[in-house]
Amino acid sequence: MSVVIHASDLTKVFGKSIAVDHISFDVQKGEIFGFLGPNGAGKTTSTRMLTGVIPPDTGTATILGYDIRSEPVLAKQGFGVVPETSNAYSDLTAWQNLLLMGELYGLPRARAEQRSSELLGMVGLLERKDQKVQAYSKGMKQRLILAMALIHEPELLFLDEPTSGLDVQSTQMILSLLRDLNKQGTTIFLTTHNMEEANRLCHRVGIIRAGKMVAIDAPEKLKTAIDRVHKIEVSFDRDVPDNTLAGLEGVMTVNRTGDKWQITTQNKDATIHSLAAFSQKNSAAIVTLNTLAPSLDEAFLRLTQEAKP
Ligand SMILES: Nc1ncnc2c1ncn2[C@@H]1O[C@H](COP(=O)(O)OP(=O)(O)O)[C@@H](O)[C@H]1O
Ligand SMILES: [Mg+2]
Repeated sequence: MSVVIHASDLTKVFGKSIAVDHISFDVQKGEIFGFLGPNGAGKTTSTRMLTGVIPPDTGTATILGYDIRSEPVLAKQGFGVVPETSNAYSDLTAWQNLLLMGELYGLPRARAEQRSSELLGMVGLLERKDQKVQAYSKGMKQRLILAMALIHEPELLFLDEPTSGLDVQSTQMILSLLRDLNKQGTTIFLTTHNMEEANRLCHRVGIIRAGKMVAIDAPEKLKTAIDRVHKIEVSFDRDVPDNTLAGLEGVMTVNRTGDKWQITTQNKDATIHSLAAFSQKNSAAIVTLNTLAPSLDEAFLRLTQEAKP
C-alpha cells in the first residue's frame, strides 16, 4: 500500500481560536477516507490546508508524494477538489465551465471536449450542458462541480461535504458515483457531518472535534471501541421465569419487551454461551438471538461530546 495523503501536525489558528489543532494522519491509496465532525470542527480548514488553498501555521502535508507548499503544481495535477462552496461560474454553461477547468489543467482542447462529454453523461447532465449554471438546482450544480473536479482524471479526489443540503436523488447519485470511482482506483477523501454517510461509504473514518482528531478507525471498529457494553436480544419458545437470566455470566441488566429479553453484557461471548446452556437445561429453545452493537450515531455523539479534548 502506498500513502497518498500524509498530514503531519497540521495546525491553523484564526485570531485567538485554533481551528485545526495538530492533526496527523495518513490516507492509503485506494481508500475512501471520511473526515467526520460537527459544524465548526475544522473539516473545511483542514481540507483547505491539504489542497493548498491556505498555508498551515505548523505542520506539513504531502499529497501524492509532493509537499503541498513547495510543490503545489505537481501535487494539484494529481488531485481534484469539490470545495465546500461552489467553484462553478453561474453565468457560464456547464459545458463552458468544464472546458475552462480543462484549460486550467492544461488539457488539449479535443481531449477536454471528449472528457467533458463523458463526465456530463456520467453525472446525468448531458442534455442540460448548454444551460447556464444559474438555472441549475443545487443537486445539478453539485454534480457539475464533481464533474469539474474529475476533468483531468485525478487519482485522488477531495470532497468537502459533497451531499450537504442536497435532495435524496442527487445524494444517492453522488454517493454511487464515488463508489464507482473508488472501484476504478480513485482514492477519496471526504468530509461529512453525516454519520450514516460515513458509515455506508468509508473504509476508515477520522472523527474531528474542536480541531482535534479524537479517533480514527474503520466505522465498525469505532462503534465497538466506543462502547464495550453490548446488547443481546433473545427470545425463547416458552416462558422463562422473570430474572432467571439476570444470574447468567456477564449479564449486567435484563429487560423484557413482549416476548423478547434485552440483556446488556460486558462479556458478550460468555453471556451467549451461558444463554445456550440455560436453554438446554430448561428445555426452552432459543427462537431469536441478536447482538446489537452501538450505532455509529451513539459512537459519534460520545466522541464529540466528551468533556476532555
Ligand atoms: N477564514 C476564517 N477566519 C476566521 N475563522 C475561521 C475561518 N475559517 C474557519 N474559521 C473558524 O474555524 C473553525 C473551524 O471551521 P471550519 O473548518 O469551517 O469547520 P467545519 O468545516 O468543520 O464546519 C470555526 O470555529 C470557524 O468559525
Ligand atoms: Mg465545512
